[in-house]
Amino acid sequence: MKRWVTAALLAMPGTAHAEVLLSRNEIQQTLSFGPWPPSFQADLSNRVSNNPRAIALGAALFSDPILSVDGAFACASCHDPEQAFTTSEPRAVGRVLLDRNTPTLKNLAGLRWYGWAGKSDSLWAASLHPIIEKREMAHSKESLKDAIVASPYIDDFEAIFGDTQNQGADLVLVNIAKTLSSYLETLTTERTQFDDFRDALERGDMAAASNYPDAAQRGLQLFLGRGNCSLCHNGLRFSNNEFHDAGVPYFLSETEVDEGRFGGLNFLLSSAYTLDGDWSDDPAKQGAWAVRSIRRSHSDFGTFRTPSLRGVAETAPYMHDGSLNDLEAVVRHYNEIDVERLHADGEAILSELNLSEQEVSDLVAFLETLSSSP
Ligand code: HEC
Ligand code: HEC
Repeated sequence: MKRWVTAALLAMPGTAHAEVLLSRNEIQQTLSFGPWPPSFQADLSNRVSNNPRAIALGAALFSDPILSVDGAFACASCHDPEQAFTTSEPRAVGRVLLDRNTPTLKNLAGLRWYGWAGKSDSLWAASLHPIIEKREMAHSKESLKDAIVASPYIDDFEAIFGDTQNQGADLVLVNIAKTLSSYLETLTTERTQFDDFRDALERGDMAAASNYPDAAQRGLQLFLGRGNCSLCHNGLRFSNNEFHDAGVPYFLSETEVDEGRFGGLNFLLSSAYTLDGDWSDDPAKQGAWAVRSIRRSHSDFGTFRTPSLRGVAETAPYMHDGSLNDLEAVVRHYNEIDVERLHADGEAILSELNLSEQEVSDLVAFLETLSSSP
């Protein structure tokens, strides 16, 4: 393994020993996690994507309980902007205790699937469902339209979308969701210590790169190597945005399971709000091939979307059911994974890692550098 030792630091007696521990191959792999932030691309299925007026309206509506039928809660009640757009509840509390953990809403622009089970293929559809879901905000299309028409938002809404007299309740719902989506598209995580390291490697600036702590570098080596983490957590967001069984039990009770992706596929197959449907604003229907080509299979049961790891230190607890309290618990979960209960046809990738205590803490140290304020 080739190592670059920082000449400048070695020349200074008394300074901490700092070097880049990564091999050439590991450096190449590390470059694939950036650069960050990605450039913005407007959502063609949403005609108010990147429209400043829609973004402002979406931001205001996001924090307003007007979007729930009885004013009970706002999007921000579960996706709290002060807590990285989630809360510390293991599972979200709506009208009842929901089945899943509330995900952060940062870095969602341009994904193929949304939600733990990928039941939406656009950000506006993912913003629409909670408004009408019975266990969440529980509006009907009609009650939402009435609420918007009677609200102070009506002038902005009509300035963007035209007279509400000419819009059915269905269209008002979609338009509201599109303003929320245009707002959510603006939410990204900050650059991190990891990004500074990655960019220094790209420039070949080993002196700057060696500022990245040794523990995090060793953790990164495990992430790329023995841990196999980057097989699923890859790309700019550290997620392949696909569905896997990562060994988290999916029983909700003794008799009920969380179907995971299987349920998400069923939902998509009957949803009017997909990129292939009439509510997309893209005449070319780009991206609709994905929803058109879905097929259900038994192996989709109990699989969940690989979460992004950017900002992960700020979004505890973890996993689709919020069952793991901190990053160390997640690393220990992978370390001691019960391969017996993984899908036989699925996850040949995961196996017990036999990490030492030092390695567990190195992997945690690496994960922490993916957040700007760990
Ligand atoms: C009662 C709590 C609650 C409320 C209120 C709520 N959400 Fe969520 N949100 C969740 C949970 C839980 C999930 C994960 C659901 C799933 O995947 O099954 C989620 C998922 C999402 C996602 C997908 C995120 C991803 O990573 O793909 C988006 C987008 C979203 N919510 C936006 C909104 C918007 C916009 C509102 C308001 C209209 C809202 N949410 C209201 C709890 C809530
Ligand atoms: C087979 C694909 C796969 C591999 C390999 C994998 N993960 Fe995951 N990871 C997932 C999936 C899927 C989830 C969500 C599982 C769930 O909730 O049921 C997840 C969840 C997580 C979470 C929680 C994130 C959150 O917001 O809740 C962290 C942290 C994490 N993985 C880190 C790692 C590390 C570290 C490794 C290597 C030791 C690793 N993963 C290997 C697919 C994978």
